[in-house]
Formats: sequence, structure tokens, C-alpha cells
Amino acid sequence: MRVPENERAYRAAVVSFAVAVVGGITAAFAYATDQTDLLLGLGLAVALGGIGFGLVSWAKHLGLDEHAVQQREPLTMTADDVQALEEELTLTRQTVGRRKLLVGLFGGSFLSLLVGFVGPIGSLGPKPRGERGRTSWRQGARLVTSGGTPVESGTGSFDQLVTVFPEGAIGVDDSQVILLRLPPDLLTDRTVAAGSVDGWVAYSKICTHAGCSVGLLGVDNREPETVRQLVCPCHQSVFDPLDGAAPVGGPAPRSLPQLPLAVDADGFLVAQGDFPGVVGPLAWDEA
Ligand code: FES
Repeated sequence: MRVPENERAYRAAVVSFAVAVVGGITAAFAYATDQTDLLLGLGLAVALGGIGFGLVSWAKHLGLDEHAVQQREPLTMTADDVQALEEELTLTRQTVGRRKLLVGLFGGSFLSLLVGFVGPIGSLGPKPRGERGRTSWRQGARLVTSGGTPVESGTGSFDQLVTVFPEGAIGVDDSQVILLRLPPDLLTDRTVAAGSVDGWVAYSKICTHAGCSVGLLGVDNREPETVRQLVCPCHQSVFDPLDGAAPVGGPAPRSLPQLPLAVDADGFLVAQGDFPGVVGPLAWDEA
């Protein structure tokens, strides 16, 4: 039996909205479980496509592109007229019920789409205030290289730079630190007071200008005095490693936060605690 076009459009709208609901829920699930590379996009696409297709089918079902002309009937009603009216009323009740289903499904699909978008839209904003004030550094956390090797305080020659992380948090972006050993007598008082050990100093590797990695240590040995500079390659901000990584050139507006250091019972470098301030550009936090 051939299904009337109007009925087919109705069914298509119901199925489309139901699929959109599934898409929205899938997107929300993908975001909550960090599967944002493929599943999130698929979910949102299915939700949007389902709603679009459902609306078109709904419009077809309503016959919005049709013009209907109804002839006026005589005002007297025969028994047949009364029966026809009752049938029409029954049909209208069914139609209203079907419409409720459509409206409900449309509302559900729209809601699920909103839910699917909540996470990604929320991620566009700044991190909640205070969250950037914390990194993975904790009191007693050993400084380890990217290969997991802890750093002994008695080793290492002057003027060498190595990137280190807290033990157990290798690769965590906001916790990357540049570790240097410098002649202790050249460090300024505030650098020593902020937590240096035998010439070891550790600074956040995230540039305070726009967040690039500060990975260059320039040492100029020419007379009359050796000049040491930490350089960010993105826009050439220059920091003084002897003086708390204070900015001495370029656009960076403030020092690289210094990680306070100590030595544990086995002679390895550890953190006294987290950075005293926010790492990276302050604009992120103030946006
Ligand atoms: S990000 Fe470092 S100078 Fe711009």
C-alpha cells in the first residue's frame, strides 16, 4: 500500500527530530568524555542536520505550499453531515495528538542541540578565575626531565638550560619550567629569596606576552661582563635570569613566575610549592 505523501513527510519529520535528539546527546557525551576530535563534531552535525531536515519535512506535512479552497455547504445538516462532522472531529483530535508529538520532538531536539553546544561554547571563555593560579607543582614535587629523570642538585654545569616538569605530570602545559644553573653570587637578592638553591633557578616556560615557550638562553661572554638572557623566539621578549626573569626587552609585560626550589633528603631538586603567581599572559585571566 502506498503511503500518502503527507504521511511520509510526517514520519520523516518525526524520525529527523528523534535523530537530532540522539545527535545532541552524543555531542554532550563526547564533550564530557573529552572525545572532541570526531565524536563532538559528528554529534553536532547530526543534531543540526536532523533539526533542519525535520523542519523541512514538517513544513511539507503541513502543506504550506498548497492553496486549499473550501466550498461553503448549505447550513442545514443531514444525518450524513452529522456523521461526517464527527469523523472530521475525530480526525482533528488525531492530528492534534500527532502535532503534539512533533512539537515535543522538535523541542527535545532543540534542547539537546543546546546541551551539545554548552560545553564547546563554555570552553571559549577564560578559565574560571583562580584556576590558572594553580599548576601541577606541589610542595616536595621532584623536578624531572621530559624523560622522567630527576635532577640532582650537585650535578650540572653553569649556563645550561633544561626543561623540567613535576614528577608525575610530564607534558602538562602550564607546569613546564626552564631550569638553569647560574653562578650563585650573580643572582640578585630577590631571586635567591624567591627560592634558588646553589645557583639553580627555575622559571615558568610560558612567556608572559602571548604564551609562547621561552626556550633560549643566550650567553654573551664578551668583556667586560658576561650577559645572560632568556629569549622568547615569538616576539623577542628578553628576560634577565639573574634577576627573577624580569623583562628587559620586547613586549612581555612582567617577569616569568619563579618556582621556589629546595633539595630533598636524597639530594634531588624539588619544588617548595606552586608558582607564587599566574603563569602565562595575564590577559587570558582578565578577559
Ligand atoms: S609570546 Fe613571547 S614575546 Fe611574544
